Amino acid sequence: ALPIIIDTDPGQDDAVAIGLAAAAREVFEILGVTVVAGNVPLPRTVDNARRVLELCGASDVPVYAGADRPLLEPLETAEYVHGVSGLDGFDLPEPTMPVQPGHATDFIIETVMARPAKTVTICALGPLTNIAIALAREPRLAERIGQIVLMGGAMSEGGNVTPAAEFNIYVDPQAAALVFRSGIPLVVLPLDVTHKAPTTPARIARFRALPNRCGPAYAGLLDFAKRFDEEKYGSVGGPLHDPMTVAWLLQPELFSGRTVNVAIETASPLTRGMTVIDWWSVTGRPANALVLRDVDDDGFYDLLVERFARLP
Ligand code: BDR
Ligand code: CA
Repeated sequence: ALPIIIDTDPGQDDAVAIGLAAAAREVFEILGVTVVAGNVPLPRTVDNARRVLELCGASDVPVYAGADRPLLEPLETAEYVHGVSGLDGFDLPEPTMPVQPGHATDFIIETVMARPAKTVTICALGPLTNIAIALAREPRLAERIGQIVLMGGAMSEGGNVTPAAEFNIYVDPQAAALVFRSGIPLVVLPLDVTHKAPTTPARIARFRALPNRCGPAYAGLLDFAKRFDEEKYGSVGGPLHDPMTVAWLLQPELFSGRTVNVAIETASPLTRGMTVIDWWSVTGRPANALVLRDVDDDGFYDLLVERFARLP
């Protein structure tokens, strides 16, 4: 099985990503879930990660709390999308599984350094603060992490927080800059691809129809999460960003993109957190990321529903 660490700030779409990994445990050895502040403050993201793992029957996966704020910027959260809890839409019971002692960045460093080089994949679903801190504290990590598959950034789609920037990169641009300069192989799922597979009512109905407890719970979460886009943009359904990282690991043939250079804007107040993606190789800078831009959207939902049917 592929050893993975899931770094996350749940969030309904993070919850789907965690569920998808939990539904594929013959594929993934989930070494741990490391939690960061992002969609909501850290105490809630930690609480949410535990609720979701318990819902999915994966309470054996250790959970570690990480950074409670970005490296330099004050934390900006997204309750306007995810609700005050971060997981509005379905009332999951109070979690009973423990939070592990020790900081998430210690766990990342110790786990990756103890394993053979380039074997551990990190799935990054929130601001990149934990990963940047781990890299700063243990520079050898850059040669030991196998790859980072991350949801973040935007190219021609434009940003969802500012015209230039997507939330995860915007919230901690310094952390993102460090990760994109690290030399670690990166796979990037930007808004350009996540916006191509909205959670339409018909797709959510497939979750609701599953004969298990997870199906209806996830349908409730997705119903809530799409409200923001529907009310603000009049769209049918909302985006489902984070599970595309896990879906790419499971079925990369669903996606297409290019291996290019990506640089992160940290200096300009106007374009803070912009992912400057050299799609047409005009800079001569070496490629550092596989940027995915297209997805077989029906295939993505088929994968999700087929996997979620295996959950409790
Ligand atoms: C990203 O920001 C968060 O709101 C979502 O969980 C996702 O990781 C999308 O911009
Ligand atoms: Ca997220």
